[in-house]
Amino acid sequence: MSVTHLAAILPREGGPLALANRTTPDPGPNDVLIEVKAIALNPIDYHQRDRGFPPIPSYPAVIGCDVSGILAKVGPGVTTAPAIGTRVIAVATSYYHNGSPDYGAFQEKVLVPAEVVIPLPDDITFEDGAVIPIAAVTAMTAWTSIGIPLSARFNPHHKEQAVLVWGGASSVGSFSIQTARMLGYRVYATASPRNHEYLKTLGADAVFDYKSNDVVSQIVEAIKADGVQLRTAHCVVDGGLQPTLEILKATKGNASAKVAHSPVLPPDHPTLDDTEIVFNYPPLDEVERKKHMFECFHGWLSDGLRSGSLVPSPPAQIEKGGLGGLNEALDKLRAGVSRTKIVVRL
Ligand SMILES: NC(=O)c1ccc[n+]([C@@H]2O[C@H](COP(=O)([O-])OP(=O)(O)OC[C@H]3O[C@@H](n4cnc5c(N)ncnc54)[C@H](OP(=O)(O)O)[C@@H]3O)[C@@H](O)[C@H]2O)c1
Repeated sequence: MSVTHLAAILPREGGPLALANRTTPDPGPNDVLIEVKAIALNPIDYHQRDRGFPPIPSYPAVIGCDVSGILAKVGPGVTTAPAIGTRVIAVATSYYHNGSPDYGAFQEKVLVPAEVVIPLPDDITFEDGAVIPIAAVTAMTAWTSIGIPLSARFNPHHKEQAVLVWGGASSVGSFSIQTARMLGYRVYATASPRNHEYLKTLGADAVFDYKSNDVVSQIVEAIKADGVQLRTAHCVVDGGLQPTLEILKATKGNASAKVAHSPVLPPDHPTLDDTEIVFNYPPLDEVERKKHMFECFHGWLSDGLRSGSLVPSPPAQIEKGGLGGLNEALDKLRAGVSRTKIVVRL
């Protein structure tokens, strides 16, 4: 007799999610099975629920990306997984598995490739752990996508160089600040004033209100007064590219500049001379992507969490209802959050 578990399935494009029992899969080569304890929500989740984008090959689907839980089973040939019973975090997404619902986060048991599973330190709760995986890996990928290798960390010469994180209070932005600080950069960020002190605790050197009419000149003046070079930026949220380019225009001189852009880049996006604007995304080639993910998770992230140099951010906002509360929780995320990651407990 097959074993089953509860899932929030997406029966059709446009949703809503519905509860159903699914057969619990056994992990194959390179995969592990996680008993999920908490799920964090990301914008991609409501985009997939509401309009089937990024594309979902077939329905019913299981969507979702960020999980924490307990390692329940390990597939044959896996050499990098923690021991069964270990508390773990992981990126769990059917998107990288041709839409196979066994790999989506919104269920009690999920399959995950071993390269994106790492132990969760004992002092971090499941709810706080779930906020980490996608935001952290997106922040790290932003740097590699514009040619800054993860091995560049702790380079003391970076202190004369600055990075701009536009959208520092977002989930991805908060990890962008933390990882830029680990790389050794001086970090300038934008956020609403109520979030400035929090972002400084994560490693931002200066934070500016993006709603100020003169935010561009404020940042340019600060960069000049501090005597640092600004040629690198991570534009984390929609609407940030134009002011980011205006700032770079005033700070880069005749040098070239690079911008990683996390939201999908519109085809008619603004540009700037000698400035490369790159959509921030992990390598498309599967072998390259697995290598990149392994380096992010088993190097930077696992070391950073163990040592405390990376911390869960922003704070988790726990919503009620478990899998049955996911529709409402996704609606709250879609309505907009500030310095918050929405999480459901299982
Ligand atoms: N490319 C990828 O692989 C990838 C992966 C993950 C996410 N993403 C994308 O990255 C973006 C961020 O995702 P997220 O989950 O981190 O977002 P989020 O946490 O939902 O972002 C909310 C935050 O955005 C800030 N914000 C909103 N408008 C802003 C503006 N004009 N300037 C500066 N800050 C602004 C707000 O700051 P205040 O509260 O301070 O006002 C708020 O705290 C989304 O577009 C998402 O789709 C891409």
